[in-house]
Amino acid sequence: MTDTMIGVIGGSGLYQIDGLDGAEWVKVDSPWGAPSDEIFCGEVGGVKMAFLPRHGRGHVHSPSTVPYRANIDALKRLGVTDVISVSACGSFREEMAPGDFVIVDQFIDRTFAREKSFFGTGCVGHVSLAHPTCPRLSDACESAAKSAGITVHRGGTYLAMEGPQFSTLAESKMYREIWGCDVIGMTNMPEAKLAREAELCYASVAMVTDYDSWHPHHGEVDITAIIATLQGNADKGRAMVKGLPALLGTEREACPHGCDRALEFAILTAPE
Ligand code: ADE
Repeated sequence: MTDTMIGVIGGSGLYQIDGLDGAEWVKVDSPWGAPSDEIFCGEVGGVKMAFLPRHGRGHVHSPSTVPYRANIDALKRLGVTDVISVSACGSFREEMAPGDFVIVDQFIDRTFAREKSFFGTGCVGHVSLAHPTCPRLSDACESAAKSAGITVHRGGTYLAMEGPQFSTLAESKMYREIWGCDVIGMTNMPEAKLAREAELCYASVAMVTDYDSWHPHHGEVDITAIIATLQGNADKGRAMVKGLPALLGTEREACPHGCDRALEFAILTAPE
């Protein structure tokens, strides 16, 4: 058994959470550089929790400049066992409407200007990413969201784009009609890859703000509408997060899906 420590990475609009006992902002150093911000650490019902605003307080990091490796490494160093990504997304599905949450379970990574691995020269590693999210942790997110009265969709493919511009109409249609994606965002990759390399369970809760640009009745992405929806989504995200400690408990057994042992099943090489 291990102590549970829930790590929440908050996306656009979610820069702070409340209801943590004994909470303080903690500076964590990492050999991978400075994380996006200090990490807000405390407890809820005896369960340890750490919150990191992905873009930093004041939204200082764009999706391309978020220090993804430092963030995942800092959470690991703190003792986080379970990472929950909360982020804004556009929707490619009529039924996944603005204000809804999607518990993502697959990704297509179209980002290209980011460091994507802890491995490289010297030690080469290849972890499996066939199932990039943790079903056990996703179950907890789904239950917590439902209990908070949020409309939640279980499963979906997230197209990770580089940004910062939104997609063209042709891209939007291709991702939706040909590639079969359900939502689009700019931040879940390489985060999910790095969480797997760090042997952390990872679940992704994508909060829909818009219909991207494919929808015949919604036209292109409307920034004013996104900002209005973001605020409501952030409140819902906080409500969902509050339900997680009771569902996950103070102690946890080994992940039944092996997320916490990913390197045991990986191909690794080290210099002689
Ligand atoms: N984040 C929120 N809406 C988005 C969209 N339409 N495309 C990419 N990222 C988003």
